[in-house]
Amino acid sequence: MTGSDQIGPLRTSRTVSHRARTMAGRGEVPGPAPFPMTSPRSGWTRPVISPLMGHIAVVGVGYVGLTTGACLAKLGHTVVCGDVDEARVANLSKGEVPIVEAGLDQLVRDGLRSGNLRFVVGAATAAEGAEFIYLCVPTPQGEDGSADLSYIESAAREISSVLEEGAIVVNKSTVPVGSAKVVERVLGRPDVSVVSNPEFLREGSAVHDFLHPDRIVVGADDPNAASRVAALYLGVPAPFIVTDPASAETIKYAANAFLAAKISFVNAIAAVCEAVGADVTDVVLGIGSDKRIGHDFLRPGPGWGGSCFPKDTRALVRIAEDAGYDFDLLRGVISVNSQQHARVVDKIRDAAGGSLDGVVVGVWGLTFKARTDDLRDSPSLAIIEALRREGAVVQGYDPTVERELDGIQLCVDPYEACAGARVLAVLTEWDDFRWIDPEHVGELMSARQVVDARNLLERPAWQRAGFTYQGIGR
Ligand code: UGA
Repeated sequence: MTGSDQIGPLRTSRTVSHRARTMAGRGEVPGPAPFPMTSPRSGWTRPVISPLMGHIAVVGVGYVGLTTGACLAKLGHTVVCGDVDEARVANLSKGEVPIVEAGLDQLVRDGLRSGNLRFVVGAATAAEGAEFIYLCVPTPQGEDGSADLSYIESAAREISSVLEEGAIVVNKSTVPVGSAKVVERVLGRPDVSVVSNPEFLREGSAVHDFLHPDRIVVGADDPNAASRVAALYLGVPAPFIVTDPASAETIKYAANAFLAAKISFVNAIAAVCEAVGADVTDVVLGIGSDKRIGHDFLRPGPGWGGSCFPKDTRALVRIAEDAGYDFDLLRGVISVNSQQHARVVDKIRDAAGGSLDGVVVGVWGLTFKARTDDLRDSPSLAIIEALRREGAVVQGYDPTVERELDGIQLCVDPYEACAGARVLAVLTEWDDFRWIDPEHVGELMSARQVVDARNLLERPAWQRAGFTYQGIGR
């Protein structure tokens, strides 16, 4: 556990699952309940939900804050988003969204037009007069793997004196277990509640995920505060998990760690498939059809990346370690992921004939996954760095990347990336790549070698065009 204000062992959870929609209507859940129902335990009563719209402040307009603000405005609330970045605030106030996120531009423009959404400079300016203050600031990784809480703490310090009596501060950022207590301490405002309400938004489909979540988790010591936060989500059809802050914070880390484990597992199975001559696509179909396993997050690839899984898995290992538990399993999940980058490099080296020195490699896809412009902790960049260390010359193309990147010759289209290349590596699963004519690509390259690290291309078509095709696990 990080932070100086550690909390004790997890308390008995007070978990209630029910539908926001139902709560909005009659305050009763008609049977049969579609979601697991557990009886309320001590201290928790089913919330009385008022249909009043809240006045909300969102602190930090990165991926999470901007999506949260725009979606809450869409639900009818009045939202003021505050950020330290003046240029970003000015652009957002004109409806210019700086990130690639499906549907977000429209929501921001709708919010500005209706007056439900505003952008201001500074956390305190946003928080003034707000009933709810969502903290959506970054929690970068500290040098020892733990999450760095300094942004959260300084936001809490900044808003403390302007908060209305009875206001609720909502932790949306992914924060170590015990952070709600840290925020309470920094705020120094016993009249203000701190609630944990973790996000489960995937970049690229964050708006959809916000408005159609699998569940909404609210962690609060004060049942009344939990009810008030739950009431903000009226109209969002999802079960609520209402629990204590430490459990809510743990749910967020455990969910990301489990998903990362699923991917590492399938990448390890892919390695086994290659060794025994099986096809991972069929194996995944076979295991995913078991409802207990499911098909989601079983796509083999170059390893997981992004701003969340790498940071959160390492942070959870650290949280567990600090609490006296050696999370060996999760360390294995992380290590399989690093090996996966190396396995893709091995395939590219093999395709180049055993050495990468002076070899031109064409790379399709730089972002950590498709439908985003985010390059943070992208497996593609880690693989490119390894290729360059061995002397390869990398020509890269990505539909959302325009700025120059160190050591990569950035190309204007996928064809230019292949010009004169001995190997083509597909590292991000952009749909655009799937339909490219392999014959045309082959004419541009100096050899017909392709490493498809996302199993995206239609293998027979590439083989017919004379390519030696290497996928993952097949
Ligand atoms: C992830 C979680 O999915 C969200 O629920 C969570 O809210 C978010 O982190 C967060 O903590 O904020 P995200 O980082 O946007 O969302 O990306 P994912 O879609 O989860 O993908 C993560 C990585 O796993 C990507 O590199 C992706 O290519 C890879 N992946 C995913 C696979 O290799 N195989 C799969 O089957 C799925």
